Amino acid sequence: MKILIIHGPNLNLLGTRESAVYGTKTIKEINDSLENLATELGVKLVIKQSNYEGKIVELIQDSKDCEALVINPAAYTHTSIAIRDAIAAVDIPAVEIHLSNIYKREEFRHKSLISPVVHGQISGFGPESYLLGLRAAVSIANAKKGTS
Ligand code: DQA
Repeated sequence: MKILIIHGPNLNLLGTRESAVYGTKTIKEINDSLENLATELGVKLVIKQSNYEGKIVELIQDSKDCEALVINPAAYTHTSIAIRDAIAAVDIPAVEIHLSNIYKREEFRHKSLISPVVHGQISGFGPESYLLGLRAAVSIANAKKGTS
């Protein structure tokens, strides 16, 4: 089973970016822990990061050989109809994740345009949100295949 992980804009700066909000783990450290969990769960990962909305749309459109998507759309969560429509267009179960609890923060972060088209959202657990997201994605992909 192959799972696509997408990190949205500015997440390449994790480790130094607003560490009081996002913690001190770098994107590489997060990706390494995702790879370790993937090995444990017996799945393969394709991990991408982009600062560009159109690139993220293309990654989602090209994800047809993946069985689930874990996405942190970052700031595009609150603005991108294009990313929302791309997720709705592909027949792949998706999990939306956020490092911070977006509902505890500024009001403009309380609205996710992505949530209505994903299976579920995980928000507020720091880097652990990605690991919970991967476990959830594998579980819903297995359920879809009828294997668990
Ligand atoms: C974020 C929350 C978003 O509001 C913000 O724009 C981000 C990161 C998170 O992981 O907590 O860039 O998605």
